[in-house]
Amino acid sequence: MQRYGKLIGASLGPGDPELITRRAWTALQSGARWLYPVKKAEESSYALSIVERGGLPVPGDAVELVFPMTRDAEILAKAWVRAAEQTVALLADGRDLVFLVEGDASTFATFGHLARVVCELAPAVEVETIPGVSSFAAAAAATGITLAEEDETFAIIPAAYGVEVIDHLLDEFDTLALLKVKPLVDEVIALLERRGLLATSVFIEKVGSPGERIVRDVASLKGEKVNYLSLMLVQNPKRVRGELRRGCRRRQEAVEVSAAA
Ligand SMILES: C[S@@+](CC[C@H](N)C(=O)[O-])C[C@H]1O[C@@H](n2cnc3c(N)ncnc32)[C@H](O)[C@@H]1O
Repeated sequence: MQRYGKLIGASLGPGDPELITRRAWTALQSGARWLYPVKKAEESSYALSIVERGGLPVPGDAVELVFPMTRDAEILAKAWVRAAEQTVALLADGRDLVFLVEGDASTFATFGHLARVVCELAPAVEVETIPGVSSFAAAAAATGITLAEEDETFAIIPAAYGVEVIDHLLDEFDTLALLKVKPLVDEVIALLERRGLLATSVFIEKVGSPGERIVRDVASLKGEKVNYLSLMLVQNPKRVRGELRRGCRRRQEAVEVSAAA
């Protein structure tokens, strides 16, 4: 029977190599072959740059996988199949593969989809996911924002759902992390202006990397073309909260209810 190497998704955090977990660091140095994502062939890889800044030399046999940034479903589907087939062919050598993931591997990451397609092609492949620091957790820490306290609510969404959805979610959640905000910055600013939430919003680009930028005067970004690696944290201190309902009644309450029935 074919013996495959293990496919390991190593979360590297959003940019600061100090945020690479010990487990990911160990996997990188385990002798497993490195795989890293790029948008175009021979283009630089943000995930790889995090490890390089951490001081690990890139092994000569590291392999790049191309995941184009396009909405063209046909091009995307072909690229995914190609990447998965390439991964299965490498795993068939019996050597483990460590796939470098920017941020956390379970949060809007290429790794989940890649692992699924690989397992469809080769069900015997074992997958390990090493969790890591997400971009929004690092952004909260860098800006001194608390994402949620006590009974507060917190949601993470791709901004691409549009301002109508964000407007609605602002009534449901105390804090929103708006990822992939690049194409909607102006529309989001207009919404925040309208809702009076500019003062409690912050924009963060390339958190943890040498290019990190924190913009608290979010309105100043109007008309600017921002980097893809950027997000907004929006807090709505005016939100009216509903009552908390508890799943478990205290014993005395339960006795009273059953006695009344
Ligand atoms: C494909 S998702 C990757 C998310 C990543 N796996 C994580 O755990 O945060 C890409 C989006 O995540 C956010 N992002 C990722 N890295 C970032 C960084 N270093 N600084 C700011 N935002 C980042 C941006 O909103 C970007 O458009």
